[in-house]
Amino acid sequence: MDLLEGIKLKAKRHNKRIVLPEGLEERTLKAADEIIREGIAQIILLGNPDAIKAAAEKFNLTSIINASIVDPADHERKGLYIDLMVELRKHKGLTAEEAAMLIEDPLYLGTLMIKNGDADGEVAGAMNATGDVLRPAFQYVKTLPGISVVSGAFIMILKDSGFGENGIIVFADCAVHPDPTDKELAEIAVATANTTRAIAGFEPRVAMLSFSTKGSARHELVDKVVNATRMAREMAPGLKIDGDLQADAAIVASIGAKKAPGSAIAGKANVLIFPSLDAGNIAYKLVQRLAGAEAVGPVLQGMAAPINDLSRGCSVSDIINLVAITANQAAGL
Ligand code: ACO
Repeated sequence: MDLLEGIKLKAKRHNKRIVLPEGLEERTLKAADEIIREGIAQIILLGNPDAIKAAAEKFNLTSIINASIVDPADHERKGLYIDLMVELRKHKGLTAEEAAMLIEDPLYLGTLMIKNGDADGEVAGAMNATGDVLRPAFQYVKTLPGISVVSGAFIMILKDSGFGENGIIVFADCAVHPDPTDKELAEIAVATANTTRAIAGFEPRVAMLSFSTKGSARHELVDKVVNATRMAREMAPGLKIDGDLQADAAIVASIGAKKAPGSAIAGKANVLIFPSLDAGNIAYKLVQRLAGAEAVGPVLQGMAAPINDLSRGCSVSDIINLVAITANQAAGL
């Protein structure tokens, strides 16, 4: 069975409640209809109920009737969520009036539902920018204990099964944190190892990438990667990790053996941690376009509950896949 089919099957077993704030968006509605029909997750759509029902009829989506629909303008928990928002953000000076306006924004409502235990996870971004999806999540759901930074991993399914884990390599951070410190980079490595076990389903061998292999170049950017590798080992004893490694030394056995003899990771890495968002975002897009790899994600990691961001160019099946991944994350937390 392929990776995505396995993820969907696991999601069906857990039957988690996933909130879709963009409840009137066409691809989102079509995805919701299929998710409900296949039993991948319970779906909560945010939006005006009459408008959602009219759109479902227009697109001939017969399973939407089984979604829960919450109207951001008018629902029974509005006052409760406003109080919760003020309580959680009083140190930032948030007033009840400001909270009353924000809670009508579906992206805020979705995160407050999760915070209050009324939903298990969220998928959004088919019509909203990454920052707009992430900001409410950062403010109200926050990070897991021991993690200060959220990051985004891609599961890259390659055409050449000779690389990584039978052709699968997990890349991070490709989506969120522009310029991590050494400690943040270590956290990203540990979080990505957890995502690899939970979602990709194999034991991680983590390469901390650089333009240097084992000190072949001297620069403060290399020091950052070396320090991050040491810190990640302290944070997760037993984690199979090595760095600094250049990309070729990380994934090509003959080059790994030459440049980093004795390394347990060089030449056989199945997780690549990039030193900055520039590097990670550019790398995943190049591998996707030039090598024809399938890029599954970004899977956001490090958050206290799973919230995942779609590309605005996403397809219906991208949304279904990300909902299934989100449900798997919710089951693992
Ligand atoms: N992890 C956890 N919390 C964070 C993070 C993070 N990575 N970044 C910011 N925060 C928190 C802050 O601590 C702050 O919390 P507080 O309000 O409780 O103090 C809150 O989020 C807002 O922080 P700002 O610094 O004001 O964050 P801002 O909204 O300016 O930016 C954002 C955050 C939107 C994620 C920014 O880092 C960003 O734009 N990143 C790049 C996203 C992107 O464009 N990615 C590429 C496209 S995605 C793709 O191609 C797949």
